[in-house]
Amino acid sequence: MRLVIIGASGHGRVVADIARLNGYDDIVFLDDNENVVECSGYPVVGKSTDAPDGEVFIAIGNSRIRKMLSERYADRVQPVLCHPKAIIAADVTIGKGPVVMAGAVINPGAAIGAGVIVNTSSSIDHDCVIGDYAHISVGAHLSGSVIVGNETWIGAGAVVSNNVTICGGCIIGAGGAVIRNIDAPGTYVGVPVRKLSESRAQTE
Ligand SMILES: CC(C)(COP(=O)(O)OP(=O)(O)OC[C@H]1O[C@@H](n2cnc3c(N)ncnc32)[C@H](O)[C@@H]1OP(=O)(O)O)[C@@H](O)C(=O)NCCC(=O)NCCS
Repeated sequence: MRLVIIGASGHGRVVADIARLNGYDDIVFLDDNENVVECSGYPVVGKSTDAPDGEVFIAIGNSRIRKMLSERYADRVQPVLCHPKAIIAADVTIGKGPVVMAGAVINPGAAIGAGVIVNTSSSIDHDCVIGDYAHISVGAHLSGSVIVGNETWIGAGAVVSNNVTICGGCIIGAGGAVIRNIDAPGTYVGVPVRKLSESRAQTE
């Protein structure tokens, strides 16, 4: 089974490993850095715009680029990649092209949008709604009924209280605690979080 992974990075290597565990035995990468010729032993066969035939997976951390490439390949199958040691409740709904990594837990009633990254050992509790191209980083925990807007990045180890809504276009810094709704895009850090800047940092 062929999978074309876009993004020959550390994230791409994790995605490739999960793809292997999901039964893909013909994995190739695309990357715009022409000096990169292989990734985890798999060949880099061209640039991000030159996908050969096969299912496509966008393994790019930057949410805007992930969205742009996902839309470019809208006519391709973009599978859900789920590590066998992740736990996903039976009624969870999932859009196209997300990855759920090892140790992640997604509890009943949750909805996961397109291109979402549910990173290692993060948890998304009951009835959460995760917008398209959001990223729930390593070890982040969302309590019940949390809403995360499109392209919002929840940093490593961050915690979000139940029933909180975070709008799209936000970054929650590593270790942050979100205890109230966030209504304006920007970068938020601390315990509890306070606004650091009006714009997203460019650190993804
Ligand atoms: C929030 C973040 C995006 C800010 O990055 P940045 O804009 O480059 O910010 P800087 O490093 O210039 O720091 C600016 C200020 O914010 C503080 N700050 C930055 N990140 C912080 C955090 N997570 N918690 C608390 N304070 C933080 C810095 O100490 C600094 O304070 P100072 O001006 O008093 O010295 C980044 O620090 C972060 O937390 N990224 C998340 C990384 C992550 O979770 N990766 C997971 C991948 S799976």
